[in-house]
Amino acid sequence: MKDINVGLIGFGTVGSGTAQVIYDQAERLRKKVGSSIILKKVADIKIDSLPAHFSDVVLTKDVSDIINDPEIDIVVELIGGIEPARTFILKAINAGKNVVTANKALISQHGLEIFEAAAKKGVEVGFEASVGGGIPVIKSLKEGLVANRIMSIMGIMNGTANYILNKMTDEGVPFAEVLKEAQAKGYAEADPTYDVEGIDTAHKLVILMTMAYGMKITLDQVSIEGISNIEPIDIEFAREFGYRIKLLAISVNHGEHVEARVHPTMVPEKHMLANIGGAYNGIHFTGDMVGNVLLYGLGAGMMPTGSAVVADIVDIARNVICGSIGRVPCLSYHPEHITPRRVTSMEDLSGPYYFRMSAMDKPKVLSKISGILGDHNISIESVIQKGRQKKGTVPVVIRTYEAQESAVKHALAEIDALDIVSDKTVKIRILSDADEG
Ligand code: HSE
Repeated sequence: MKDINVGLIGFGTVGSGTAQVIYDQAERLRKKVGSSIILKKVADIKIDSLPAHFSDVVLTKDVSDIINDPEIDIVVELIGGIEPARTFILKAINAGKNVVTANKALISQHGLEIFEAAAKKGVEVGFEASVGGGIPVIKSLKEGLVANRIMSIMGIMNGTANYILNKMTDEGVPFAEVLKEAQAKGYAEADPTYDVEGIDTAHKLVILMTMAYGMKITLDQVSIEGISNIEPIDIEFAREFGYRIKLLAISVNHGEHVEARVHPTMVPEKHMLANIGGAYNGIHFTGDMVGNVLLYGLGAGMMPTGSAVVADIVDIARNVICGSIGRVPCLSYHPEHITPRRVTSMEDLSGPYYFRMSAMDKPKVLSKISGILGDHNISIESVIQKGRQKKGTVPVVIRTYEAQESAVKHALAEIDALDIVSDKTVKIRILSDADEG
């Protein structure tokens, strides 16, 4: 049977991981596909040679050597970022190539353009590695959960942020130091602010929402808050209340409108997501037929991500061999059924909250703060006040019962304007049943 030839653009962390998976698993893949998967060419402008065991692979600095090679069946884009990745992918599609990518920034922002071009040319685009690293999350949505109306999506989708929060929680290591470790392990994005500011998580949520709900959604419709303002003191207070802080992506499907948000969340310490450590991801779906499904695994790193890229290569290879390209629509729904939906305004959401104020240690301070919260119909569940800090202020930590986001916003603006309060109040949402759909 015909060999399946692959051209790889980008030999960085994920590119070299992918090449290694193809090399290490060659025999196993041949037995599963029925033909050999051959890495024929690699394009990378930053390297002058490939490792010795890739002596049969042609290295080029010119991507068109891959795109215009008639023997190449699948072009794998692993350079990341929007341009030139978008142009390379569109050129490859126009040249009749099937494409595999791990590029979540690109798929979340230009996916529809790419999938439309692919449908016109009758080729496939695989993007399993764009969400959840090595976890087969895209395939689960497209195939395993296909019979379900997805009611909610919730999860930890960024290994770097999870790694940082965990090390800060378990070992008290400062933020900057843990970020360096995550970068050294190949987890972080080229621009690590994407990891810590929740942008990478939002890219992944957009992709999952599109597929889960058959919905057109853009990145600017997602409310995004990162973890860079989380301080060790908040992690300590969370522990006292029995929570761990996690960066969660949350989407609840209300039918006419859907939630789309990424923010640090206090998760009860016995909850499954609270116990997802290191660079692991945990992605939870609720389906109307299946109920709860939790997918767990390494969300970053060269070999897990390489495993997901090769899974797409194999899917396409099998379809090429059987003449069944396009059998499964790239986004699960056929393109004409992917339609816009309203995104729920954050102001309309309710839930319990954690607030940390820096207040003067004086009589009546607590009553002023609780008075303002009461005026906005925000009910206090518990309060902790610890010893004095510098400037005569103390942290006043309040846990509320369910409160409306718009009320919280107005109450905190009033509280922060008081002369007895020195810094901006830290606000972290506490996970509630409503978040789980
Ligand atoms: N920077 C990403 C993460 C890589 O840390 O999860 C995987 O998408």
